[in-house]
Amino acid sequence: MADATLRKRNATKASQSAASSNDAEDVEVASATSVTTGRLAYLVFSIIVAGFLYMYPDVILQLSEQWLGSSYVESPLPGAGDPHAIDLSADIGKRDAVVEAFKHAWLAYERDAMGDDEYHPISHKGSNLTKAGGIGYTVADSIDTMLIMGLDDEYQRAKEWVATKLSFDRDANFNTFETTIRVLGGLLSAYHLSDDPVFLEKAVDLGDRILTTFDTPSGLPLTMVNLGRRVGVADPDYPGLVSTAEVATLQLEFRYLTLLTDDDIYWKKAEKVMAIIKAARMPPGLATIFMNYQEGRFVPAAIRLGSRGDSYYEYLLKQYLQTNRTEHVYREMYADTMDAIHGHLIKTSMNSHLTYTAELIPERNMNGELSWRLTPKQDHLVCFLGGSLMLGAVTTEALVDEVPIPPKSELLTSHGIRDWKTGAELIRTCMATHETATGLAPEIVHFRIPSDGVDSMLQGQAPQDWYIKGARPRQFPPLDARYILRPETVESLFLAFRVTGDRRYREWGWQIFQAIEKHCRIETGGYASVVNVDELPVRHEDKMETFLMSETLKYLYLLFADASVLPLSDYVFNTEAHPFPVFNPPIRTGFS
Ligand SMILES: *[C@@H]1O[C@H](CO)[C@@H](O)[C@H](O)[C@H]1NC(C)=O
Ligand SMILES: *[C@@H]1O[C@H](CO)[C@@H](O)[C@H](O)[C@H]1NC(C)=O
Repeated sequence: MADATLRKRNATKASQSAASSNDAEDVEVASATSVTTGRLAYLVFSIIVAGFLYMYPDVILQLSEQWLGSSYVESPLPGAGDPHAIDLSADIGKRDAVVEAFKHAWLAYERDAMGDDEYHPISHKGSNLTKAGGIGYTVADSIDTMLIMGLDDEYQRAKEWVATKLSFDRDANFNTFETTIRVLGGLLSAYHLSDDPVFLEKAVDLGDRILTTFDTPSGLPLTMVNLGRRVGVADPDYPGLVSTAEVATLQLEFRYLTLLTDDDIYWKKAEKVMAIIKAARMPPGLATIFMNYQEGRFVPAAIRLGSRGDSYYEYLLKQYLQTNRTEHVYREMYADTMDAIHGHLIKTSMNSHLTYTAELIPERNMNGELSWRLTPKQDHLVCFLGGSLMLGAVTTEALVDEVPIPPKSELLTSHGIRDWKTGAELIRTCMATHETATGLAPEIVHFRIPSDGVDSMLQGQAPQDWYIKGARPRQFPPLDARYILRPETVESLFLAFRVTGDRRYREWGWQIFQAIEKHCRIETGGYASVVNVDELPVRHEDKMETFLMSETLKYLYLLFADASVLPLSDYVFNTEAHPFPVFNPPIRTGFS
């Protein structure tokens, strides 16, 4: 009890110091309270005019064209490309090269490890997550990619395995979030794309087992689930805690399961998490990466868009899109959060002015007071954000129902333009982190700040903008230096290409694909992680992560496919790249 009280007080302190680090906001609040009567009348008039223009944006477009005539030039959106040069049709050669890569990965796995959870392409072996037996981690994650790529033979064999071999009756602990996004998500997409009832049957079985994790005092789901015993299990490494991204990245999957089964239970449990988060968020819209599952509160911990934070932000937008933009609560939460990110986390690098996201790390002084230290560290995971911001700009901040491709700045709100620009810049930054010996980006980069001591450490060889922390010549590389076949940059390139039609995004995607082919491809089959992206020849780590086949190669395929394949107006992708259809909710949903 004493412990809980302490946490509560700390949380309040945390929110105060986070807010006071942004003086601009304090100033705005002060001036709003001293509005005089004259200014009030002006304000009311402005609000009416703004409201009118918001509802009838065409009026201002027509008027501005009349006033300004042909000399009227829209303010350009960076990264939107030349509107006369867009081409959304397939690049067949590159698309088919990605299919070939997928087959190189899948056929090796099938040959050496069919049905095992994970694959080790150098030793030609599979392994399971637990001793209790596999749960189809790789197979379930890969099926929808086969369906999308039209690989019918491979699909038939994988489906046969699901129908006859897949079992969730495993007496062991599995990560709730990973099992949901990879296995449940994969089965749901496979069901949508194939209409084969076996996938739904398996998805319902798995969903019911995972449902038990939500039985906590707050309703926040526990980190692990014993699938065989059907019981949630707390994470012994973080007693009392669950991570924000993990509890807030089950919603697309559980909501879709309700749509398919007509059983509200999945929807209600997942939605409750969002209500808890909305009530618990610290002003102004910031969320730390850990919550206490007894009380449903945030606890002092890092605030970041990388690990344990990332897909919480992603799913705010995607929940709004999944239900066809009908649940405004998610639009509001997303807008607040993007404001907070711009206010506190978006920074610019010292020399080349690369836009990046920093992290806020809580620190306690000798009196136990909490303060926040800004750390210029960006996970490769954050690279999802560029494309997500661009997609969010043309959906949540659009002044018209359908924004054209490429969008025009006058069809977006000022926040939409802000988000768009940040998104395009973040993609540029993520591409800059690929400027390594291999052309692959490391797991974590640090951006240069004047006080980082890097200059004196590396005397004259210090990089201008970013570096891999702890990397020393001729020493074993730190984990930060790895590339483990992650998809986030190509995911952003896919989204950016779809909303712009700008061929530059395809060129960047092709560069990354070629680097993967050159440095990760194993001759005998499969792809392996690289231990240090800045070292040639590369050293491999004997592991092919399942997201290579579910995400990296799927997003690359879709980047080069015709844009009518899984259009963004009709689909949302879960955080493991499994596409779900957009729908109008059949039940009364949302909360406020
Ligand atoms: C993984 O689990 C499955 C199902 O129990 C089993 O058939 C297979 O042999 C296991 N693989 C390994 C490498 O232990
Ligand atoms: C989404 O809503 C629009 C109307 O705003 C409607 O035209 C469209 O058919 C809906 N999409 C789906 C998939 O229900």
